[in-house]
Amino acid sequence: MEEGEGMDLEQRLSDVNTYLSEGIHTVKGWCLPHLWQTLWPLYREIGDGPVAEIGLFEGKFFIGLCKTFGTSEKNRAAAIDVFDMQQFNLDGAGVGKMDVVKRNLGVHGIAEDAVEFVQADSLALTHRDADRLVREIGQFHFFSVDGCHEVVHTAKDIEFAMSVTANHGLIAVDDYTNPDWPGVQEAVARMYMLRDFNFIPLAVTCNKLLLCSYSFHSDRLAAIEEYVSSHYPTTRIKKVKRFGFQTLTLHPGHSVWSDIVK
Ligand SMILES: C[S@@+](CC[C@H](N)C(=O)[O-])C[C@H]1O[C@@H](n2cnc3c(N)ncnc32)[C@H](O)[C@@H]1O
Repeated sequence: MEEGEGMDLEQRLSDVNTYLSEGIHTVKGWCLPHLWQTLWPLYREIGDGPVAEIGLFEGKFFIGLCKTFGTSEKNRAAAIDVFDMQQFNLDGAGVGKMDVVKRNLGVHGIAEDAVEFVQADSLALTHRDADRLVREIGQFHFFSVDGCHEVVHTAKDIEFAMSVTANHGLIAVDDYTNPDWPGVQEAVARMYMLRDFNFIPLAVTCNKLLLCSYSFHSDRLAAIEEYVSSHYPTTRIKKVKRFGFQTLTLHPGHSVWSDIVK
């Protein structure tokens, strides 16, 4: 690593840790800082690039993603939500508020021009929207699926994410282990039992299922296992197969958040 890159990484680490220990608690929503025990080694493998989320609520996870993957005017992000079209929020899990997300992004140092807001019912997104996003922003390095939890929405949103995420990128599916939203697990089960996809299950932690491309699967498993076992010895790592794929289940052992480390 070049000297400059090392210094940039120190700054990035410090910014992310500040958000995870302080900022995250000031933004309403659902996201645990311990998730970064797994996200940080994956970010180190994937590198800076565009991030996107379907289902922002007030931006709690999205801001953490922007901070991790270096969102800026030159490295833009996409925020997709029904926002003011709440008639399409069929499960009412949370009401996405564009003005609050914009305010929260500003408070946490993300320039408004760095984020493209897409107000849409995710079921209405087509390959033309996917092409436009990739043309204008680029292929995503990280895509978070956290919109409506019904089976139809979850499956459609994951497939949309797969169509715009770079082959070396990552997709997160929220509420995979939340018994209040069984539609998420049902959608994932239907998908992998019926068809083959290039993105396959990688890990489950902090309520999220992470997917990565088959091409990078064994490298990503190794990166997570090595980083978590050497830095967080109280986090329990279980190797388990999901739909025939080797995956990891990670149970962070810290009841109180402690920083991510290099
Ligand atoms: C559980 S909240 C998201 C939580 C958020 N990711 C966080 O970090 O706290 C669900 C979000 O999905 C949005 N949503 C619901 N139905 C949707 C749909 N059909 N298309 C797009 N977004 C939708 C809601 O407006 C809400 O903002």
